[in-house]
Amino acid sequence: MFKSIFTMAACALVLTSASAYGAPTHNPILVKFSHVVADNTPKGQGALLFKRLVEERLDGKVKVEVYANSSLYGDANELEALRNNEVQLLAPSLAKFEKYTKQLQVFDLPFLFDDLNAVNRFQKRAKGRQLLRVMEDRGIVGLAYWHNGMKQLSANKALLVPGDAAGLSFRIQPSSVLKAQFQQLHATAQVLPFAEVFAALKSAKVQGAENPWSNIYSKQLHNVQPFITETNHGVLDYMLVSNPRFWYAIPHQIRSELEGIIDEVTYAVNKQAEAANQADRQRIETSGKSRLITLDDQQRAAWRQAMQPVWQQFEQEIGADVIKAAQTVNRKQRN
Ligand code: SIN
Repeated sequence: MFKSIFTMAACALVLTSASAYGAPTHNPILVKFSHVVADNTPKGQGALLFKRLVEERLDGKVKVEVYANSSLYGDANELEALRNNEVQLLAPSLAKFEKYTKQLQVFDLPFLFDDLNAVNRFQKRAKGRQLLRVMEDRGIVGLAYWHNGMKQLSANKALLVPGDAAGLSFRIQPSSVLKAQFQQLHATAQVLPFAEVFAALKSAKVQGAENPWSNIYSKQLHNVQPFITETNHGVLDYMLVSNPRFWYAIPHQIRSELEGIIDEVTYAVNKQAEAANQADRQRIETSGKSRLITLDDQQRAAWRQAMQPVWQQFEQEIGADVIKAAQTVNRKQRN
């Protein structure tokens, strides 16, 4: 399922020294799973479910350690740690792979996907599946897509029309598309690790951000962002990744069992992500800490119009074929 010429060659090399990569014959294979969010988020829950199922079913052959909240590695170093096999599983946001492939930036294009169901369809179709493999020659193998949710815009002032964002500075993930998206609004963007977002908003180092409800709630960002506009303008999803040297060195039968567990966890995460986000939306509203601004169709169309020029700007880098494949998954009529 997850093979390539590069990885098979690498695998042969590693099998000769499997213990160096955590796949000895007698000791358990150690899988360190590091991530940057809280346990009570779709990704946090997925990591814990993976650990539980592995430990229930694999009879001590594999040991999983989960490190949440950037407690082992954070945004600045986790992908390099994976490539160096210091950690064996990560699930970074799709916006964090730009250094290794431009194609995944399709997921950052604003207003490309109407909703999480559309994102799901794209990820399941041929082009989406293909994107899981595009970083293998860079030492990253994609195992699954995990949902979080659609992003909302928050700020220290009410954002009703695109012009309201002008002059503000927004925290972004390390993605040129996201930078360009805010430039379209005549705002500026600062790349900051997720672990620093709360403090940066609190101190007004940046005045706004874009996050799904679950990340806003679990990091209490609504306590330092008095306004949240329900734009649903983009998606924040994850790719569960390992490094091919480690992954393909795992004995075949154990790897098949791990792949089965990953399928099961992926189904569970993706099934409950939307509901988890809606529950957090409700908690934020009930807290009264932040005013939630909803947009009517006409207002949302204005945001779309303001941001959409970035599609053309990045078409060549991402690939027109990738963008076209993503466009076909929407089912709603355009306004
Ligand atoms: C995450 O959900 O993993 C964090 C995303 C972000 O950096 O905004």
